[in-house]
Amino acid sequence: MAKLIDGKQISANVKEQVRIETEQLKEKHGIQPALAVVIVGNDPASRVYVNNKKKACELVGFKSFEYALPEDTTQEELLELVHTLNEDKNVNGILVQLPVPKQIDDKAIIQAISPEKDVDAFHAENVGQIMIGDYKFLPCTPAGVMELIDSTGVEISGKKCVVIGRSNIVGKPMAMLLLHRSGTVTICHSRTVDLPSITREADILVAAVGKANFVTGDMVKEGAVVIDVGMNRLENGKLCGDVNFAEVEPKASYITPVPGGVGPMTIAMLMKNTLTATKLQNHITD
Ligand code: GUN
Repeated sequence: MAKLIDGKQISANVKEQVRIETEQLKEKHGIQPALAVVIVGNDPASRVYVNNKKKACELVGFKSFEYALPEDTTQEELLELVHTLNEDKNVNGILVQLPVPKQIDDKAIIQAISPEKDVDAFHAENVGQIMIGDYKFLPCTPAGVMELIDSTGVEISGKKCVVIGRSNIVGKPMAMLLLHRSGTVTICHSRTVDLPSITREADILVAAVGKANFVTGDMVKEGAVVIDVGMNRLENGKLCGDVNFAEVEPKASYITPVPGGVGPMTIAMLMKNTLTATKLQNHITD
């Protein structure tokens, strides 16, 4: 029987810490962090994420500005908005919700965001900083996963860590963060041959595949820590992770539920990054 890793509680703790520091920032320096959230089009999942990000801003005491643009927005129009937000002294963090509609090149948009306001840590400058282990912001989902692993008390150093998925948002930076903590890291993906033989070696297994119930019981070592980054919407409307919870839970030592695992952590880490960005922009070190 695995112990559940309570992402709701751990994210609440992170947000409470951000709330306290925000209050101090207001009292001592008269500064209130502000996050601009940009959403393009009508993707229902993106709408839910954006609403949750705005709610979290309210909870921790940030200002939030939403820019909801129509589905047929051009790349030039979106770039213009990003440039305006880059210049706006009242905005500390900029987040363009992904995916964007197909006429827009997301890489160009990410590169247009000022690295100092890039609270997703997607800009090449921030990605490079992460690569060399000298960063201002950590990408929100991998940073949240690290908090969840740390909450178990399981040591990462020397452990076999397997990440399934190689996306720029999760898989690649996740592997880098585990490596920084001296894990022995393997990244698996759709072309990996005999995936189960690799995942079965993992002391720490992170699934970021985007396929419901992909990780089955036979793919997991007895006693592994299993982190499920998946958020898959089933036909019946239910949310389901990448891990087959019923099969894997009896074998794991610790496991994250979906919902209530990684999801809330991503938003909590976004709040942390926005606070960090605000402090950096105002040269505040306390
Ligand atoms: N879409 C899915 N996850 C994310 C995220 O972490 N940041 C942004 N900007 N878009 C996303």
